[in-house]
Amino acid sequence: MTKVLIATVKPFAKAAITKIKEVFDKAGYESILLEKYANQSDFVNAVGEVDAIIIRSDKATKEVMDSAKNLKIIVRAGAGYDNIDLQAATENNVVAMNTPGQNSNAVAELAIGMMIFNARNKFTGSAGTELKGKSIGIHAYGNVGRYVAIIAKGFGMRVYAFDPFISKDSIEADGVIALDSAEELYKTCQYISLHIPANEKTKGSINFELLSSMPKGATLVNTARKEVVHEVELIKLFAERDDFNYLSDIAPDCADELVSNYQSRCYFTPKKMGAQTSEANINAGIAAATQIVNFIEKGDTSFKLN
Ligand code: 3PG
Repeated sequence: MTKVLIATVKPFAKAAITKIKEVFDKAGYESILLEKYANQSDFVNAVGEVDAIIIRSDKATKEVMDSAKNLKIIVRAGAGYDNIDLQAATENNVVAMNTPGQNSNAVAELAIGMMIFNARNKFTGSAGTELKGKSIGIHAYGNVGRYVAIIAKGFGMRVYAFDPFISKDSIEADGVIALDSAEELYKTCQYISLHIPANEKTKGSINFELLSSMPKGATLVNTARKEVVHEVELIKLFAERDDFNYLSDIAPDCADELVSNYQSRCYFTPKKMGAQTSEANINAGIAAATQIVNFIEKGDTSFKLN
């Protein structure tokens, strides 16, 4: 019997687990659930016999791949796959996939939600500001960026975007102003919503130069990955600009320092929660399960990453 491990430190909503299991039951597969595990070794120890794995931000390391002797496919139920060692997957003949777009609206809603929360002085009741009429720059116009643009337009914001991999025409077809460079985007927009992946090129790329060029009331919103922001330069910027705000769904390593010195200008969710809605879990979970069945039964390699 084909065995599938669902390994999630941060569990899916119960409704999503039910739907995922339905997909595997129909295919005649066994589902094994490993949730909220405390140590990476718990994950490694659970993979010995399984044919397929579904993960979220769980770390699919070389050790995981090497220990999973029967593994044929691993699917990251989500967009970012910086948590999968793709080389180790390939070396072990394991197909790695993600489920792009399935949790994007949830992440976009959180980005806008954090902006409102901060603009209204963290719901303390003191006079805040509105989003209407303000400029927002969407840094990387992928699935999440597009949803942020739609919502921001609904709020009456002026929406700009920069994405070197997407044509300006297709960005402008959405009524969004496409700019030619990150420099231009940061210089133009009071709000920046980050949607770039974390890779060797992007890590630390959101630096002092870019952030210090932002207009008055600059607010950086990060629902992407903490590694893309240069933390040493971030601290320098907070010290130099008393109008700069940083809101992130992934607390930076320097979170304690920022919160103790600049509490009114930063906010970090207690746990990464952008994609943590029932709808996003159901969408991404069903997509992951279906991709596994389609790969095992029909060799369908749509969404293959390696
Ligand atoms: C993603 O890359 O899809 C998001 O960052 C969500 O990650 P999560 O599944 O760990 O919540």
